[in-house]
Amino acid sequence: MAFNRKDGYWKQAKREGKRSRAAYKLEEIDQRFRLFRKGQKILELGAAPGGWMEYIATRLGPDGRVLGLDLQPIRDLPAPPCLTLVADILLPETETRIDELMPPPIDGAVSDLAPNLTGIRATDQANSIAMLEKARELVAPRLADNGFFLCKVFQGSELKPFQKRLERDFRKVVLAKPRASRKSSTEIYLVATGYAGRSRRQ
Ligand SMILES: C[S@@+](CC[C@H](N)C(=O)[O-])C[C@H]1O[C@@H](n2cnc3c(N)ncnc32)[C@H](O)[C@@H]1O
Repeated sequence: MAFNRKDGYWKQAKREGKRSRAAYKLEEIDQRFRLFRKGQKILELGAAPGGWMEYIATRLGPDGRVLGLDLQPIRDLPAPPCLTLVADILLPETETRIDELMPPPIDGAVSDLAPNLTGIRATDQANSIAMLEKARELVAPRLADNGFFLCKVFQGSELKPFQKRLERDFRKVVLAKPRASRKSSTEIYLVATGYAGRSRRQ
């Protein structure tokens, strides 16, 4: 079947004035796992153009905070609860900049990070896992006990080892493929809840 960028979810996003169809995937995952609550502090990695942030903001309310980080600027979101940061997750100084805007601990983190694709499958998968590994290293020490980490991954041989690494730190790690994610796409989401990394390492 031909790839159709302007499918039903794309049209729905346009009609409802949403920034991206990505928000429907997050909404579905949230309805199933009940991740977001009023007043939480949430970090989003790879957040432009801000579709997920828009959804998260409605769930957190004005007393919550969602910090969205991306290489690209994210514009015109309600502050509070939204804060934005133009930064590269792969650079070491990014961690300090995150902590200045959102001092830890945080209640949860979400990552929709997608590296620039080269078209060479093995390279794309390796780049994606390297970025995710960086995200995991960045998120874990900032999470409160019982916090969560939701991240997009691409199916391939590196997925299982990455899932296993998450299982060391979280009580529950589940794979989810929302209906709004195209069947033809290898993207899938890992939902890790019940952060217990600190106590498990002691
Ligand atoms: C699929 S988009 C995110 C969509 C977003 N969740 C939304 O709902 O609007 C993936 C994002 O990852 C960002 N990204 C890729 N590499 C990055 C890096 N090294 N540091 C920060 N962001 C990065 C891209 O700029 C892109 O905006």
